[in-house]
Amino acid sequence: MLVLGIEGTAWNLSIAVVNENSVIKEVRYPYIPHKGGIHPREAAQHHSGHIAKALRNIFSQIDPSTLDGVAFSIGPGMGPCLRTVATAARTLSLALDIPLIGVNHCVAHIEVGLWKTDAKNPVVLYVSGGNSQVISRRGRFYRVFGETLDIGIGNALDKLARYAGLPHPGGPKIEKLAFHGSHYHSLPYVIKGMDFSFSGMVTAAQNLLNRGISVEDVCYSFQETAFAMLVEVTERAMAYLERDEVLLVGGVGVNARLQEMLHIMCQDRGGRFFCPPRELMGDNGAMIGYTGLKMLKTGEKTRIEDSTVKPNYRVDEVELPWM
Ligand code: ATP
Ligand code: FE2
Repeated sequence: MLVLGIEGTAWNLSIAVVNENSVIKEVRYPYIPHKGGIHPREAAQHHSGHIAKALRNIFSQIDPSTLDGVAFSIGPGMGPCLRTVATAARTLSLALDIPLIGVNHCVAHIEVGLWKTDAKNPVVLYVSGGNSQVISRRGRFYRVFGETLDIGIGNALDKLARYAGLPHPGGPKIEKLAFHGSHYHSLPYVIKGMDFSFSGMVTAAQNLLNRGISVEDVCYSFQETAFAMLVEVTERAMAYLERDEVLLVGGVGVNARLQEMLHIMCQDRGGRFFCPPRELMGDNGAMIGYTGLKMLKTGEKTRIEDSTVKPNYRVDEVELPWM
């Protein structure tokens, strides 16, 4: 089976064709804001300006008549971006007369992790720009056991970076700077039950910069504090649920320090730590194509009239008949 997947919930317009085993072809057209963070309308304009070229690029190698379905991220994400991608996907589905499959973006981050690792029924730490959740599957649904009460960890890193005068996206720059930090400065460690919060930390870190603390030390302190919170909640979920696997997914998951902390925590408990290859952690078309393929195989399709985008679609709303 061959499915084309289109991702474009926010910064990355990416299209891929996948089969059951691998990614056959993928193209990426990332949107990089001139200044500040991601602007939804500008990002959507970027996607619509590049989508025809992206498809031509895919079809230069893949014969469209060999496709069995077209999957797209139906949500969550930025409304204007989602609508741009949905329009392209509907058009392709009608023109090629193949099924349309609306995929939940968060479920896709997890599915690609399960596809490319040996994790069976892990506690998932999903960390990206817009989302930060500790998730595990109960029967045919994912359940959220802990999540951010305000902004996602990626947004927090991007905000702090912007304040420090670093370009978007801030996560990778903060990781590099943190590597050269050595003095830990205390920041608010906010966990309420199984939930956590980052926006107070961002303000406190900005105050450290205002006080003249080096940007390296602020980045270091920020990562250590925020990641410790995420690891604590992940570990507690493992204990409650009696699970011994952790799967790290989402764009922030490429961070080497976060991976190291989770790895150490898993080792201490006799558990196992997994994460998919780096190129499949940030937003990508392959994860949408692959999840669409799994859905299609169990007969899941989206009728055109039901393909309205869902900017606030949650991971725990999706039934998982393929599980
Ligand atoms: P979602 O809709 O799932 O929230 P997203 O639009 O945030 O997705 P992703 O590609 O999943 O997109 O994640 C992007 C985030 O990952 C950005 O906030 C970026 O700063 C962060 N990020 C990227 N690389 C790193 C890194 N090395 N360390 C920390 N954060 C990183
Ligand atoms: Fe994402």
